[in-house]
Amino acid sequence: MGPEILLETQEVSISFGGLAANRGISMQVPARTLRTVIGPNGAGKTTLFNLISGIYKPSSGRILFKGQDITGLPPHLIARRGIGRSFQLTNLFPELTVLENVRLAAQARGRHSWHFWRRAEGLAEYREAAEAALETVGMQDRTRVLARELAHGEKRKLEIAMLLAMDPELLLLDEPTAGMSREEVPGIIAVIERIRAQGKRTILMVEHKMDIVLEISDAITVLAEGTVIAEGSPQEIVADERVQAAYLGASHGYALAGSWQAAGEEGTDGAAGA
Ligand SMILES: Nc1ncnc2c1ncn2[C@@H]1O[C@H](COP(=O)(O)OP(=O)(O)O)[C@@H](O)[C@H]1O
Ligand SMILES: [Mg+2]
Repeated sequence: MGPEILLETQEVSISFGGLAANRGISMQVPARTLRTVIGPNGAGKTTLFNLISGIYKPSSGRILFKGQDITGLPPHLIARRGIGRSFQLTNLFPELTVLENVRLAAQARGRHSWHFWRRAEGLAEYREAAEAALETVGMQDRTRVLARELAHGEKRKLEIAMLLAMDPELLLLDEPTAGMSREEVPGIIAVIERIRAQGKRTILMVEHKMDIVLEISDAITVLAEGTVIAEGSPQEIVADERVQAAYLGASHGYALAGSWQAAGEEGTDGAAGA
């Protein structure tokens, strides 16, 4: 028996007008792994996330989560099944504190709400979930700060804490480092690595910074023009000439190889032991 597959897409397609944004995308994501989807702008990465989270319905194909067909379910029901998605800061309440934001997210999760029919017990549970999530993102000392007073990087961490408070088995992170300053990027990557190290959750991420992608991904799926052109370990993707040709181009291919070497030097032991 192979590894437990948490998420599977089977030949998923969707078009907008005449444009095939996703074309027959098939992918299997094993439980408790970190998969990164890469590809040029317009390749269909966000569309794929929108299909998985139920914002769009595929025109054909199926999406399975824990072996169950979730194709076409509305977003709130998909969230309740255990798929959490970040929304680029749109769901933060700027006038509430960090802790209040995360506690609201814990209350909204709904998935286990029937356990907490006794109100006082429920509130304690929410608070605990919120505090654990804030600790994971390293914001346990920022609980009383208003969300609007946070720096951009901290807002993104808060958003991840809100996701965690909903206790999803699968996290969808669409460009978690987008818009961050250079100094903020390592902090958010450390958070993602910590979630992964906790060994409870599966992460599906879109990310452009190749050195990061190569260092933290268990596997990479490469999209171009709505279709999967390659899939494999970081080593396999770096060595894939189709990826270099179709996605990175000659000059970027060189840069990719360079960043892989840098990542490989640091990670030689881990890679050899894996
Ligand atoms: N709601 C939509 N309506 C029309 N076109 C869309 C919509 N969403 C995405 N697209 C188009 O689908 C293609 C893939 O977009 P997207 O998935 O956002 O790419 P990526 O995230 O890889 O940059 C693009 O050409 C984009 O313009
Ligand atoms: Mg996108």
